[in-house]
Order: sequence, then C-alpha cells, then structure tokens
Amino acid sequence: MKTELGLLDLISVTVMMDDYAGYDSGLLSQHGASYLLEAGYKANKKAGRTILFDTGQSAGPVLNNMHALGKDPQALDLVFLSHCHYDHTGGLVDILKASNRCRLPVIAHPAIFRPHYALKPSLRPVGVGPENSPEAIKAAGGEMILTAEPLTLMPGVISTGEITERTHFEASPTLSLKTLEDGKQNSDHMLDDTSLVFMMREGLVIVTGCSHAGIISIIEKAISLTGMKKVAALIGGFHLIDAENDRIEKTIARLEELEVELIYTGHCSGLKAEALLMERFKDRFHKLRTGMVIEMPSRKEV
Ligand SMILES: [Fe+2]
Ligand SMILES: [Fe+2]
Repeated sequence: MKTELGLLDLISVTVMMDDYAGYDSGLLSQHGASYLLEAGYKANKKAGRTILFDTGQSAGPVLNNMHALGKDPQALDLVFLSHCHYDHTGGLVDILKASNRCRLPVIAHPAIFRPHYALKPSLRPVGVGPENSPEAIKAAGGEMILTAEPLTLMPGVISTGEITERTHFEASPTLSLKTLEDGKQNSDHMLDDTSLVFMMREGLVIVTGCSHAGIISIIEKAISLTGMKKVAALIGGFHLIDAENDRIEKTIARLEELEVELIYTGHCSGLKAEALLMERFKDRFHKLRTGMVIEMPSRKEV
C-alpha cells in the first residue's frame, strides 16, 4: 500500500440517479448516473468532503432526488465527471447554479469537450452538450480542473486518470463511437473515461461511470496506483449492455479471480451481465437503484 496517499475511514454513496428507481421509491429516474459521495475520517470530522460524481442527463430529477433524500446541493465540495457522455454530464450547469458556489472544482479529463458521436442506431451527438460548455460552467460557478493524470482529491481518494493500458478483451469500447480531428473522422476510444478510487482499511472502493475503459482495466489501474490488491466494492455502470457473451464471461471470470468482495451495478451494465453477476456473486451482487445508500465499512445498504 502506498501510505503517502492516505486512508479514508468512512464513505457513504447515495445514488442520486440510476436508470432504475426501485419499487415505489417515489424518486425520479432517467437514463443516466449521478452519485453523492460523502467521504470522511474518524479523527477529523471537519476534513470530510462531499463529492458529486457525475450529474445525470438533466438536473431536474437529480435535484428532486437530492431534496427528497435530504441532501443539499450547497454542501458540495467537488464535482467529478467520469466521461463526456450526456447522461453523465447533462445536469452539470444547473446543478452548479443550485450549489450557489463560486469556484466549485469540476474535475474531468482534458478531452471531455471533444466532438463525440454514436453511429448506432443512427448518427447522434452523445458528448457534452452546448448548455454545458466551458463558458457556461464558469459562469455557473464551476472551475474546471482538466487532467489526464491521476489526481488526489483528498487523503485516501484518488482519480485513476486516463486508462492507457487495457486488458486484451477490453482493448476497444463496446460502443461504436467517433470523434473529429481537423475534420477527420476517427474512432473514439473513450480515453476520457476515468473513475474514483477510495482507499480504506477494508480495501479499495472503486466508483465508475460507465467503465468504457473496461471495468477490469480500471481495477488493474486502481491496484497499481494504490499498491492495494483487495477490492472491497465496485460501484457504478460496467457498460456490458451491448457486449458479446465472450466479453461478459471473461469479465466475470476476472472479477472472480480478483476476489472482488461486493458489486453494485446497474445503469449501462445490461440485464444479461447483471443476471450472470447475480448468479456467480450471489448476495455479494446488488443492483443499483436511485435512492440506494451504500455505507462502508458498515456495509449497510438502505
Ligand atoms: Fe452512461
Ligand atoms: Fe457512457
């Protein structure tokens, strides 16, 4: 373990947005992801921080759910954007406005504003929308910190940075995506896909957006960055919804080899992958839903 990175004592993850709202929760859901991460230390409660990880497709449902769950957007200390997709970045400016803050750090990869298109089922832009331009973010009180390198947010919390080394079966994203460079159409390998890693005595807690870089490659990067091998929990989308059976099987086999303790997934993971994960991980698998609260180390889910 790299002790200079520090250790976190507590983390609470509240799902502000997932595609699924659960049964009779009264919360709103929309295709997208947003998690409120409250990270802290036993010895110094004041040093705790509240991080909004992704902002959903639009702010309305996220702010509605925050209010319903007793969370205050004005309490945010940081915003982290896992990648450019509209369903993770769409709510940003309106959430920044609701935070009523100035110079609220918004952390992302430098390529996040690039042109970005999906080709299936037909051509459509799927990156950051014009309503969330750098100028609009600044005017709403956000201060972008754009880096491709791992960034320590607080002791025991580090971003993965760009995932350049990818496990062979995760060499390219499952989606057919394009970007434009000087008018040339190039394949987009989602180099902006980054995740957050929380270092705890129980092991690593890794929070992902869609895992377009590949969930196994993300875990391997988190292990090499922190020097910690034990993965206590994986939380987020794995984007296996359109993956071939072979890739799903290889992913699950590697998660078993890595002895991942707890898996919380939903959003873009897909029913087939979720069903197989549930079969193989049994009660260590949990389907994410809007409003779910995951607390470590108590492992209390609500
Ligand atoms: Fe997504
Ligand atoms: Fe995505």
